Order: sequence, then structure tokens, then C-alpha cells
Amino acid sequence: MQEILITDVAPRDGLQNQTITVSTEAKLQLIRLLAAAGVGSIEITSFVSPKAVPQMADAGELVPAVKQALPTLRASVLVPNLKGLERAHVAGAAEIAVVLSATETMNRKNINMGLAQATEVSEQVLQEALRLGLRTRAYVAVAFDCPFEGETALDAVLHASERMLRAGAGEIVIADTIGSASPGQVAQRFGALAQVVPVAQLAAHFHDTRGMGLANAWAALQAGVRRFDASVGGIGGCPFAPGAAGNLATEDLVLMAERSGFSTGIAMLGLLEAIDFAEQQLQRPLGGRAITWLRRQRDQERHAREASIAQAH
Ligand code: COA
Ligand code: ZN
Repeated sequence: MQEILITDVAPRDGLQNQTITVSTEAKLQLIRLLAAAGVGSIEITSFVSPKAVPQMADAGELVPAVKQALPTLRASVLVPNLKGLERAHVAGAAEIAVVLSATETMNRKNINMGLAQATEVSEQVLQEALRLGLRTRAYVAVAFDCPFEGETALDAVLHASERMLRAGAGEIVIADTIGSASPGQVAQRFGALAQVVPVAQLAAHFHDTRGMGLANAWAALQAGVRRFDASVGGIGGCPFAPGAAGNLATEDLVLMAERSGFSTGIAMLGLLEAIDFAEQQLQRPLGGRAITWLRRQRDQERHAREASIAQAH
């Protein structure tokens, strides 16, 4: 069976724009539940300006706490600049992700730099991270459409990806930041990307704004991609990209992948526990497209088990 690697980004992409402040302890518990479900790679936080994203202000506390609780977990953190890298390194992070948008305006809105400067800064951060012995990922954001500039030129996406690869990024994460991609476009763009980046190093990051998250993931799978970002319960959205809704839900992706003959190493019951917990914390219903069916399924299996135990006694 072919394996796919899922990085759950709920603690970072998921929580960064939530109005309710989630405590460090609750973030740690969410990460514990995800790890217990079999998620081996999690983007746990970001080292960005606490003024820009107050929810991530506790990154310096969360990283050592996760390291102590889950020493074998691949825990990644997003860093926008050298200051973020320095803070991440001091906190003991072993893996970082830089974020380069493929358009001028999105970089300005997100990290207050133009495209050229953002590219150079991301390269510097990657090179410095490698020198420090850290694992690295590079997001190429707004890789389909930009909320400010419309459709993103494919050449800009290819160029940004190549620059990040050459600077040493271990993984190039092609992000549909606002969830506007469609499967035909995904097939075309990943086909072109696979010509410039080894497909084993490509990852796909979708948002489910228009209900095409799963179809897009399927198109990426067909193009040979085996690394995906997703967010448990579909929590998420970039606060600086108007119109961005939640990420593709991890449980939807796991369900589709496993039903289609791919293995994820992730247990559905464990994911459902993580969703229940996140719902308590955020005080609203969560879950992707399959959540109602998944919960009904869990309840039926639970009742069947209880009935068979009662019968055995
Ligand atoms: N972590 C914490 N603080 C940081 C920082 C970082 N990585 N980078 C800069 N700062 C601080 C500076 O020390 C300075 O602090 P001061 O006002 O107390 O002196 C202040 O932020 C401004 O610094 P400057 O370099 O001028 O940054 P900026 O105002 O141009 O903002 C970013 C740039 C990148 C820090 C900011 O835009 C940001 O944090 N963006 C986050 C975007 C994000 O998380 N998007 C969602 C994920 S894609
Ligand atoms: Zn995202």
C-alpha cells in the first residue's frame, strides 16, 4: 500500500485567526491528541509578531512543552524572518517553515515585504536554518489565486518554488491559501511543478472554501504528490487573506485516502477525539464534510461493541 504523509496544521493555520484565545496547555493537549491518533507531523505554532497574530504569542513556551511531551513528533514552526528563526531556535525547534507568497501584494499584506525582498529573506532563513541543523519547509502561498491580484501567474509559482528548493528547503508546500483552486488547475500546476521540483519534495496545502478541497487533493495525488497539509476539524484560514476559509479537514483527507488504498497511519477515532476537544475550546461546531457520518459511524460501532459485551456476560 502506498503511504501518504499528512502534516496537521490545525495548531498554527487553524488557530491563528480564531477570536477565542486558546491557552498553551490546551494547544499542547490538542497536539497530544493528534499525535495519539497517529499524526506524525504537526505544524505547532509560528514565531511571528505577537501584534500581527496574538494567538501565536506563546510560541516560545509551546515549543519546549511539545518537545518534552512528544520527543519523537515532527513538530514544525512557521517563521517569517530571521528574528522568527532566532526565536524558534532559542525555543528548541527542530523544523521550520518559511512563507513566501507568489505575488507582490500578498507578501506586503502578510509579512510587510515585497516579493523580491521576501524571496531573499526566505532564502536567508532557509540557509541559516540548515546551518543550525534544522529541517526545513517552504510555503509557496497564493499559488493559484491571490485575494489582491487575481489569478497567480504559474511562472511566478514555479520561480518561487525553484528558488526555495535551491536555497535548501526539504519540502515545497504549494498552498491554495484562499481555497480557490479547482482540480483541473491543480493537475496542471502540479504537473508543471513536478518538472522543477522532485515530486517527493512537493506538498499540497488546500483550503476548502469552495467545497473542492478533497477533489483538489485527489488531483494532487494523481499527479504523484504524497505529502499533504490538512487541519483537524477543518479549522483555519489566513487572517491576512480576505475570504480564506478553513483548511481541508484532516479527517476528510484520511477517509478519502484510506478508502482509495493509501495508508496514512492515522486512526479516525483519535481524530474525532481531537475534534471533540477543539470544539470545547473554540465553543463552536467543527468538522469537515464527512463529520456527521463519521460520528454516526463511531456511535454505531460503540453501541454494537457494548451490546456484544453485554451479551457475553
Ligand atoms: N517575531 C516576533 N516579533 C517580531 C518578529 C518575529 N518573527 N519579526 C519582527 N518582530 C518585531 C520587531 O522586533 C519589532 O518590534 P518592536 O515594535 O517592539 O520594535 C516589530 O515586530 C516590527 O518589526 P519589523 O521588522 O518592522 O516588522 P514588520 O512590522 O514589518 O512586520 C512581520 C513583519 C513579519 C514581523 C509581521 O508582518 C508578521 O509577524 N506577520 C505574520 C504573518 C502571519 O503570521 N501570517 C499568517 C501565516 S502565513
Ligand atoms: Zn493555509
